[in-house]
Amino acid sequence: MGHLVGYTFLFIQLCFDLWIYSIYTVYSLAENFYRFLFPVRRKSLDKEIILITGSATGIGRAICLQLAAKTKATLVLWDVRKEANDELAEILRQFGTQARSYHVDLCSRSQIESAAERVKGEVGNVSVVINNAGICNPVRFLDECQNPEAIERVFHVNVLSNFWILAQFLPQMVIHGHGHIATLSFLGSSSTLPFLASYNASKFAQHGLMATLQDEIMKDPWRPDIKFTTAFATFTDTTLTSGQKITYRYPFILSTLDTTYVAKRVIEAIQRNKECVYIPWYMEIYVLLQRMIPTRVRHVSSKLLFDLELTTRSLEFSRNHAPFGHNNKKFGRFNLPPVKE
Ligand SMILES: *[C@@H]1O[C@H](CO)[C@@H](O)[C@H](O)[C@H]1NC(C)=O
Ligand SMILES: *[C@@H]1O[C@H](CO)[C@@H](O)[C@H](O)[C@H]1NC(C)=O
Repeated sequence: MGHLVGYTFLFIQLCFDLWIYSIYTVYSLAENFYRFLFPVRRKSLDKEIILITGSATGIGRAICLQLAAKTKATLVLWDVRKEANDELAEILRQFGTQARSYHVDLCSRSQIESAAERVKGEVGNVSVVINNAGICNPVRFLDECQNPEAIERVFHVNVLSNFWILAQFLPQMVIHGHGHIATLSFLGSSSTLPFLASYNASKFAQHGLMATLQDEIMKDPWRPDIKFTTAFATFTDTTLTSGQKITYRYPFILSTLDTTYVAKRVIEAIQRNKECVYIPWYMEIYVLLQRMIPTRVRHVSSKLLFDLELTTRSLEFSRNHAPFGHNNKKFGRFNLPPVKE
């Protein structure tokens, strides 16, 4: 009898919970639709101190140039390519922007920590972090395994540096109750792309860090106003993609993106406090569709938009590091060594 009462109570509770959650869902969907029609006003970044990693080239550089053109924010540029970074800071200063360049190798925790100390002394408390720096080895997994240091570098730059940077700047954001953390992620397809094992694994890890951190901050009793933005861009014309040959099936739907365009969308997403931004925007629909189709179809469907091949740079890497498969013309297939008798 006692069981019956207990279960009845639980059942009523379940119905009540489902009811509350469905109302909340409908309300949120309606709000999303409203925000789609009337987006949130862009917030001003004029008073912010913005740290951009990997600022010297590619998307990082484009972000710096546009922030300088559109805002009065103070820019802190971190890059391992010293000359290019100093040069960019000089250009930005000519625009009238407060910009300072720092030579930092994101593989090194001690360099990150000492650069952060210098920034705090010379510029101030960073209020916006844009985790833009990223590297990848566009090679086959078995070849990449021949060069463990290269794999470690990918994780140092793409994942661990995020931990060390946040460890330096997040505490003050929490104390001041104000901040924004933006991350450049990558959207290949929802099925995996070949040749990007360490890159993909590192991006997954980075995403896990950001998602958990955001959750923690949201549940923090002090409720610091710290926003998170993750940008999922497809292939962009940067040094990262220079080792890959990408063939687009429908170039009018998708082709390699321009850094200026990506930077513009990222800045807009930060200003509108968007949690997620897909670049180009219709990739969101693609991702949604991909989730609904059976996995078997998903595996072949990535070819629908593009195909990835390795180019000479990757081939060189394979020649120098791979014990097998040098003569294989079809890089997409593994050419395993013959079985020894
Ligand atoms: C940075 O934040 C710390 C901790 O809140 C504060 O003591 C310090 O004065 C701030 N520095 C600047 C330049 O605002
Ligand atoms: C990485 O792998 C996951 C899991 O298969 C996949 O969902 C994701 O889209 C992949 N990302 C890239 C860039 O290939």
